[in-house]
Amino acid sequence: MTPDHASELTARVCALAPVIPVLVIDEAGSAADLARALVAGGLPALEVTLRTPAALEAIREMARVEGGVVGAGTLLTEKDVEAAKEAGATFGVSPGFTRRLLDAAEANDLPMLPGAATPSEAMYLLQRGYSVQKFFPAEGNGGVAVLKAWGAPIPQVRFCPTGGVSLQNAATYLALPNVACVGGSWVAPAAMVRSGDWAGISRLAAEAAALPR
Ligand code: 3PG
Repeated sequence: MTPDHASELTARVCALAPVIPVLVIDEAGSAADLARALVAGGLPALEVTLRTPAALEAIREMARVEGGVVGAGTLLTEKDVEAAKEAGATFGVSPGFTRRLLDAAEANDLPMLPGAATPSEAMYLLQRGYSVQKFFPAEGNGGVAVLKAWGAPIPQVRFCPTGGVSLQNAATYLALPNVACVGGSWVAPAAMVRSGDWAGISRLAAEAAALPR
């Protein structure tokens, strides 16, 4: 898959809802319930981070949930890309990028949302064909002010800011012309996932889905 095509597809993922939940899943057994709760609340695109032993099994379970569009996050290596694809992820997210990671995503037909933290990184990715990128860590890197400043010289790139984004500040990101969607973990707090508070998670998802953009 070419980077241009990958970005077309990740732009479509971003268009589904203003927020992509960033999920750290400890129990694959509850992954489908979690996915159903988020989808029911209006957030169909889900990022399962490959940070726990349960992550790949969780992707397999969630990929079967109707209406869900399940991606894999925290992709660091070629092996991560292959494992994510094999588990049924339909897009990939990484905190940054390496040439080898991008080569693997392109060879495995996994549409990639690669991370950029500086204008040079955004320019490198754009030159390679990635016009939709993750801005990470959004708040730590200067947040809305920095993304707004990047929009003047590099308007061709649209971003998914992630890291420190919350219900309180998401709307200010979403109001920027170079923001396609935001990512955040706040819609699935660990305690609510542990206790199986699916109705509560659906309510958080619905609040997030209603954010203007
Ligand atoms: C992550 O990779 O953990 C994301 O950036 C989520 O960040 P958040 O927990 O601040 O939403």
